Amino acid sequence: MTAEYKVHGDVAVITLNNPPVNGLGLATRQGITDGLAKANADAAVKSIVITGAGKAFSGGADIKEFGTPKALHEPNLLSVILTVENSSKPVVAAVHSVCMGGGLELALGCHYRIAAPGANVALPEVKLGLIPGAGGTQRLPRALGVETALNMIVSGEPVKSELLAQQPGQKLFDKMAASLESLAEEALAFARSVADARPLPLVRNLPCKHPQGDAYFQFARNMVKGMTRNFPAPAKCVDAVEAATKKRFDEGMAFEREIFINLMWTPESRALRHIFAAERAASKIPDVPEDTPQRAIKSVAVIGAGTMGGGISMNFLNAGIPVKILEMKQEALDRGLATIRKNYESQVKKGKLKQDKYEQRMSLLSTTLSYDDLKDADMVIEAVFEEMGVKEKVFKELDRVMKPGAILASNTSTLDVNQIASFTQRPQDVIGTHFFSPANVMKLLEVVRGAKTAKDVLATVMALGKKIKKTAVVSGVCDGFIGNRMIEQYSRQAGFLLDEGATPAQVDKAIEKFGFAMGPFRMGDLAGNDIGWAIRKRRSQEKPDMKYSRTADKLCELGRFGQKTGAGWYDYQAGKRDAIPSALVNQMIEDHRKELGITPRKISDEEIVQRLVYSLVNEAAHILEEGIASRASDIDMVYLTGYGFPIYRGGPMLYADQVGLFNVVQSMNRFARNPLDDAKFWEPAPLLAKLAAEGKTFN
Ligand code: NAI
Repeated sequence: MTAEYKVHGDVAVITLNNPPVNGLGLATRQGITDGLAKANADAAVKSIVITGAGKAFSGGADIKEFGTPKALHEPNLLSVILTVENSSKPVVAAVHSVCMGGGLELALGCHYRIAAPGANVALPEVKLGLIPGAGGTQRLPRALGVETALNMIVSGEPVKSELLAQQPGQKLFDKMAASLESLAEEALAFARSVADARPLPLVRNLPCKHPQGDAYFQFARNMVKGMTRNFPAPAKCVDAVEAATKKRFDEGMAFEREIFINLMWTPESRALRHIFAAERAASKIPDVPEDTPQRAIKSVAVIGAGTMGGGISMNFLNAGIPVKILEMKQEALDRGLATIRKNYESQVKKGKLKQDKYEQRMSLLSTTLSYDDLKDADMVIEAVFEEMGVKEKVFKELDRVMKPGAILASNTSTLDVNQIASFTQRPQDVIGTHFFSPANVMKLLEVVRGAKTAKDVLATVMALGKKIKKTAVVSGVCDGFIGNRMIEQYSRQAGFLLDEGATPAQVDKAIEKFGFAMGPFRMGDLAGNDIGWAIRKRRSQEKPDMKYSRTADKLCELGRFGQKTGAGWYDYQAGKRDAIPSALVNQMIEDHRKELGITPRKISDEEIVQRLVYSLVNEAAHILEEGIASRASDIDMVYLTGYGFPIYRGGPMLYADQVGLFNVVQSMNRFARNPLDDAKFWEPAPLLAKLAAEGKTFN
C-alpha cells in the first residue's frame, strides 16, 4: 500500500507511504483519490487529513516515473489536486520533515495546512531545469506573497516551515504544531475544529498582487538573467509567477503547464535530469551489492606531503577523520603542513571557515618520518612521485607495517594499479584513489578497481568518497583511467588543429563558447605544460607510432611551461593570470607548419568543437566497451565534475546522444579523410558504430 486509509472517529486520515520520501507515483496518487472518495462517501467522516509516513510528508514526483508517460497517467497530480479542492469535506494537509515539489503543490491544494516545525519546504523543480508543473507557481505566490514565493521558486532552495509561518500575512500554514511528535494529534484536533466550516477556503481564490507590479518583475528578470546564463528555467519561473498576478487562476495554470512541457524538452533540462540520475547511479557497482559490509575507516595515513598529499589530507580533516602524513624528510613535512595551514587560513580570512573549526581540523593532523607509526591507520593513501620504483618501495613498506585489513590506496594518475598491488602480499586490499588537483576542491574521485581488489574494499572506498563529499566514479585499470585517457585524445586534436591553421586563442575561444570552463591551451598553462611533456616523452617510447603535434614539445623546449614560468601558450604579465595571445608562439606554430610543408587553412569554430568533443566520445565508447567504465553516465560524471564540461550539456555522452550518434559518426568519417589528422583514431569504436547504426543512444 503506498497510501493508507484509516478512520479516527470522525476524521479520515490518508497517509502517503511510498519510501523513501513518499514520491507521488501512480499508485500513491490513486491511493489519495480512492481515500478521498471513501471519506466523502462515509457519513461518519466529517473531515480528512493527508499526511506522510516515515521521514517525509512528500518529496514530490516519483523519480522513477520522471519524464515517462506514467507520470501523466490518470489520476495525474493535477487531477489529484483538483479532487482535493473539490472534496465536499475539509481536507487538511499535515506537513512535516520534507514537503517539496509535487508534495508542496498537493498541500497547497488542500483547504488547510498544519505544519510541524523543522519541515523543509521547497519547489526544487528549477534544479532539474523545470518550473513547478502542478500549480506551484500559481498557488505559492497567493499563499506566501509574490516575493517570497518567487525567491523559493527561482532558487529551488528549501525553507524551514517555522520561518515561512512567520512571514507577515502568509496563508501557507493555518497552524504550526508544537512539535513533530504532536503533529498527528494536533492535525486531528484541527480537522475537527474546521469540520463545519463552509465555504471551504481555497488558495486559488486568494488575491495575488505585487505593489510594484511590472517594475518588480523587470527587476526580478534582470537578477535572474545575471545569475543563470545558459539555463532557461529560472527566467520562466519569473514569467509564470508574473502570470499569477495578471491572469485568472485557470489561465495561469494553463500558462504554467505550457512552460513546464516546453522546458521538459529542452536539452538543459534533459542534462540536469540526467545528472540527477547519473549521480545516484555512479555509486552503484553492478557486481557489488549495496549491502556489502564495509570496513571501518576511523583514521587515515597519507604518504607524501606534496601538491596532492596535502589536498587529500584536507578532505579527511574536513570530514573529522584524523590524518597522519609521512614524508622522507622533516623539511618536506614542514612545507606540506605550512601549505595546509595557508589554505585553511585563507578560508578563515574569507569568512568561509570559523577559527575554532580550523583549529579543530588541524588538531586531527599529525606527521611522522617512520612507517612504524602508521600501523594503526585503517587506510593509507600514497601520493609520492609518479615513478614505479618509488611506488614499489613505498608499497613494500606499507605491506610490512599496516595492520591486516587496512586499505592500501594509490593516488597514481598513470601507473598500473595491478602492478602496484603485486608489490604487496595483499593485492585484495589495494585500490586506486585518483584525486584531482586541487584535491581539497575538485569534486571528482576516480576509484580504480584493480583485478584483485576485494568487493568490500571497493564498497568502503565508494562510501568514504561520499563522506568526504566527492563524486566517486569507478574505473577499471588502464592507462589514464577514464578521464585522462579521454583527455589525451582531446589534446591530440587540439595540437592537430594548430598544425592545420588554428591559433591557441581560436581553439580556446571556440570550446569555451561551447561551455567548457577553460580551453585546452589556457588549461595547459594553468596546470603546467611540462606535465604533458613528461607524459609524451614516456608515451613516445611506449607507443612510437602515436601521431601527435610537436608544437607542445617545442613550446616546452622554449621553457614556456605556463603561468608558473610567466609564459606558455600565452604571455602573462607579472602577477596576473590574464592570457594574452603570444606573437612569439604564433610565429613558432607558423614556422612549424612551414617545416611540415602545411598550408594553413581557415578552420571553423564548429569543426574545432566537433573534433575536440567527438574525440572524447569515441575514446569513451572504447572505455565503455572494454568495461573500464560500467555505464555511459559514469563517464559524463567524470567530465562534469573533473574536467569542466558544461553542466547544461550533461556530459560528452549525453551531448553525443542529443546530437544523434548517427550524426556523430558521419562527422568522424569526415575527419578521418583529413590527411593531417589521425584516420585510425577516427574509426568509430565498435560500440559507437553499432548504436549509431541501430538508431540508439549511450544513455
Ligand atoms: P609532488 O612532487 O608535489 O609530491 C610528492 C611528495 O612525495 C613530495 O613531497 C616528496 O617528498 C614525497 N615523496 C617522494 N617519495 C617519497 C617516499 N618514498 N616516501 C615518502 N614521501 C615521498 O607530487 P604530486 O603532484 O603531489 O603527485 C603525487 C602523486 O599524485 C603522483 O602519483 C601523481 O601522479 C599523482 N597525481 C598528481 C596530480 C597533480 O595534478 N599533481 C593529479 C592526480 C594525481
